[in-house]
Amino acid sequence: MSEVQEKKKIILSGIQPTGVFTLGNYIGALKNWVKLQEDYNAAYMIADMHSLTVRQDPAKLRQQILSAFAVVLACGVDPNKSLTFIQSHVHQHAELSWILSCNTQFGELNRMTQFKDKSAKNADNINAGLFTYPSLMAADILLYQADLVPVGADQKQHLELTRDIATRFNNLYGNTFKVPEPYIPKVGARIMSLSDPNKKMSKSDENQNSFITILDKPEVIIKKFKRAVTDSDMEVRYAEGKDGINNLMSIYSVVTGLSYEQIEKDFQSKGYGDFKTAVGEAVAEHLRPVRENYERLIADKAYLEQCYKLGAEKASNFANRTLTKVYKKVGFIAK
Ligand code: TYM
Repeated sequence: MSEVQEKKKIILSGIQPTGVFTLGNYIGALKNWVKLQEDYNAAYMIADMHSLTVRQDPAKLRQQILSAFAVVLACGVDPNKSLTFIQSHVHQHAELSWILSCNTQFGELNRMTQFKDKSAKNADNINAGLFTYPSLMAADILLYQADLVPVGADQKQHLELTRDIATRFNNLYGNTFKVPEPYIPKVGARIMSLSDPNKKMSKSDENQNSFITILDKPEVIIKKFKRAVTDSDMEVRYAEGKDGINNLMSIYSVVTGLSYEQIEKDFQSKGYGDFKTAVGEAVAEHLRPVRENYERLIADKAYLEQCYKLGAEKASNFANRTLTKVYKKVGFIAK
């Protein structure tokens, strides 16, 4: 975020470096990150601290953080335009998170559906971080005084809590934080599993056929779409109760730019087999440059290091302004 651009509105978003990103992450968030960086002062981070809410293998995590950083750049996030960094490199996130935790109610955190889902899935490790995670996410956003936060629909509740925390803090201590708005895409905010269209597409799904990863090879992508669960009806039509087809239509619409009406027209006299092949091919083609960019970037560790180090330095300078203000407001003595 350069000084001359300071008048532009600010956006911030993050992604956890757990596993290879899915088509859901791409359509719900990453694709918009790329688009929005043209008109906003954008800050994008690899949310590595959030990943610790679930037990991780340190060596694997280290490699996934770097890989995630490379994927973000491979998708088209330009580190010369956007502030691109790794969350744990900017210590202000943890520090503000503590202050915000003291301004977040137990009852509010207890209502978070993601906490309920994740604690059911990780019953042997329901740690305090998993519970207070939304306060850290609020810190990520509020540190940068973000106007807008591009996320998929599953993050909406966390965004609402962030707004509540910011408003409460502002009322208690005087205007400190920008109250951010969510930016949730109209189409593709919730990409569903290919094997169970009632479930969100997720990288932690045990069934490998249920999700497409951004780095899947074209033949794998095409094969997975061919197996996608649909319904017993034969019409390619967006309608209630046709969750599998609706999901494929959203994906196809996002990657081709075609409207639902146009897709229905194009496949009027064709079967599901043809449609699934077309979706698979379109997605494979759409992701081809991302995979190729990734191969190039991940081989250039020195460039990646240069990018995230510079990103951390700039992010830290920016975040420090907000944190200093907050410390003063709550009554801490300056060093
Ligand atoms: P995470 O890592 O689970 O997901 C990253 C982004 O991908 C979106 N997403 C989806 N969108 C559509 N369909 C899907 N099936 C799908 N699955 C995931 C998510 O909504 C998200 O936008 N807490 C966040 C990371 C985070 C963050 C932040 C986000 C940390 N700090 C500050 C915004 C601002 C998370 O776990 O996302």
